[in-house]
Amino acid sequence: MENIKWWQRAVVYQIYPRSFQDSNGDGIGDIPGIIERLPYLKALGIQVIWLSPIYQSPNDDNGYDISDYLKVSPDFGTMDDVQNMLSVAHDLGLKIMMDLVVNHTSDEHQWFIESRKNKENPYRDYYIWRDPVDGHEPNNWLSDFGGSAWEFDDKTKQYYLHLFSKKQPDLNWDNPNLRQKIYDTMQWWLDQGVDGFRMDVINLISKPADFPSDANVTLANHGSSMNFIANGPNVHDYLKEMNQLVLSQYDIITVGETPGVSTADAVKYAGFDTNELQMIFQFEHTEIDNSHEGLGKWSNERFKLVDLKRILSKWQNDLYGKAWNSLYWNNHDRPRVVSRFGNDSDQYRVRSAKMLALTLHFMQGTPYIYQGEEIGMTNIKLSDIADYQDIDTLNAYDDLVLKQKRVTANQMMSYVYHSSRDNTRTPMQWNNSHQAGFTTGKPWLAINPNYTNVNVSASLRDQQSIFYFYKKLINLRQKMPIITTGKYELLDLEDDEVYAYKRVNKDSQLLIISNFTSQNQIRHYNQDDKGQLIISNYNDDEGDTLRPYEAKVYKF
Ligand code: GLC
Ligand code: CA
Repeated sequence: MENIKWWQRAVVYQIYPRSFQDSNGDGIGDIPGIIERLPYLKALGIQVIWLSPIYQSPNDDNGYDISDYLKVSPDFGTMDDVQNMLSVAHDLGLKIMMDLVVNHTSDEHQWFIESRKNKENPYRDYYIWRDPVDGHEPNNWLSDFGGSAWEFDDKTKQYYLHLFSKKQPDLNWDNPNLRQKIYDTMQWWLDQGVDGFRMDVINLISKPADFPSDANVTLANHGSSMNFIANGPNVHDYLKEMNQLVLSQYDIITVGETPGVSTADAVKYAGFDTNELQMIFQFEHTEIDNSHEGLGKWSNERFKLVDLKRILSKWQNDLYGKAWNSLYWNNHDRPRVVSRFGNDSDQYRVRSAKMLALTLHFMQGTPYIYQGEEIGMTNIKLSDIADYQDIDTLNAYDDLVLKQKRVTANQMMSYVYHSSRDNTRTPMQWNNSHQAGFTTGKPWLAINPNYTNVNVSASLRDQQSIFYFYKKLINLRQKMPIITTGKYELLDLEDDEVYAYKRVNKDSQLLIISNFTSQNQIRHYNQDDKGQLIISNYNDDEGDTLRPYEAKVYKF
C-alpha cells in the first residue's frame, strides 16, 4: 500500500439528480440546482460526486432506461449546463463520476427501434433475441422487477431479453460492434471532462452460454434471475478490453455495481493487478434483512448485528492487500441507513446516525455518502401505494398483493416502509420553508414531513449536527493514512450488541467501538495503556461504559 491512489483516499457523495435541488419550479431536481449546491458539498469535504443518470430517458426506471447516451434529459438541463457544472466543480476541486448504464438501453433508444424492425437489421444483434420454445419463453429467467425476463415481439415473432423492465432491453455484449459503440460513448464523455464512471449492474453483461433455465426461481416467488446470470463467461474479458481501450488511458475513478459477487469474484473485478475496475459495490450486507419467506427484500425483518459484522469483516479481510473495497450503507436503491441499522426515533436519530457513520468510515475502502445521509434523513411512510413512484415497488405490490394474493395490503405496506426504493428518493431537505427548499412547485415525489427539523440549514447552524460529524470523519481520513492502509481486525464476532474492531499499522493502532443498542453496555477491550480518544458521538468518555448508540475511536 505504499502507492496510495487518490481514489483510495477519496470520499464520494452520490447525487440522485431528480431529488437533489430543483431550480425552475417544475418539481424535478436539475443540473442548475446541482451547481447551486456544489459549495455545500465542498463544505462537507467530499472529493468526488457520483451523479445518477442525467441522460435522455422516457423514465420508466427514473433514468436507468436511457434512450440516448449522448444527450442530457431536458428535465435536467442542457449540455451547456453539464459543461458549466463540470467547470464549477473542477474549480472547487471536486470530481464528477457519471453513471454508465450499459447492460441495457431504453426500448426507445434508436438502436432498439432499429433492432426490432426485422431480423436482418444491422442492429438486430445489438440485443438478445430468441425464438419461442414450444410456444413459450426461451427459458424461465425472471426480471428483477417481476415477471418473465422475456418479452414477445409480435412483429418478428421472437422474444427479447430484459433483466429489468420490458422497457429496458438487454444489450448483446458478445457483439464487437456494440462493444465498440459503448467504448466510443465512454470516450466521448471522458473528452467532455468527466472524472469516472459508476457502472450499473456491470457484472450482468455476459449471459450464461446456451441460456439454461434458472433452477432457483419460479414466478410464484417474485424472484429474480439476476444472481444466476451474474458473472457470466466473458465478463472479465470484456472489462479487460474496456480497461485497455478506454479506462487505462485516463486518471479516473471507476466502480462497478455487481450483484451476486463473492469476495473471490471481487478480487477479479477490482484486483490491484487485474486491469478491470478499481472497486465494486457488493450487496451482501444490504440483503441481511431479506424475507425468510422467499420474497427477497420484501420483508420487515430487523437485521442481526452479528450477520452485519460477519459480512463486512469478510469483505475487509478477503480483499486486504488484493483488491479495493467500496463502503456504503445506502443509495438510491436501498433504504435509509438510520431507519434500517440505526434508530430514527426523535430520541436517537442523531446519535445513531453518527454511530453508523463512524462504524463505516473507519473501515478500509472508499466511502460513499448518499445525499441526505449526512443530515440523517429517514425512510418515509406514504399511506397510499398510489403515492409511490418506483416501478419496482409498484410491480411488487401488484404481483404479491393483487395477483398472487400472497401478502395482505397492510403487510405489504410494512414491507414497502422497510425496503422501497422511494425511501431514499424523497427530495433533499434543504430548509424548513415550503417544500423543504427543494422546489417552488409540486415535487415529483412527496417530501418527508420531518423536513421541518431534519434539514440542511438546521444542520449547518448546529455544531453538534450529523453534518459536522461527517465532515470530521472525512477530514480524519485525509489526515490519517492508517484509515486508508491499516489492517482490519474484528473483535468479538459473537457480540450482538457492540461492533468493535481495530485498524493496525506497523507503528500505530486504532480501536473503533460502536454500541448498536439503545441500552448501556459494559465492554472492556484488553488495551494495556489507554489510547487517545480521537472522535466520539458523546462529549465525554465513560471508558468501559458505552451509552446508547455511543461510538468512539481511540488511537494507540
Ligand atoms: C441498478 C440501479 C437501479 C436500476 C437497475 C437497472 O441496480 O442502481 O436503480 O433500476 O440497475 O438499471
Ligand atoms: Ca427542475
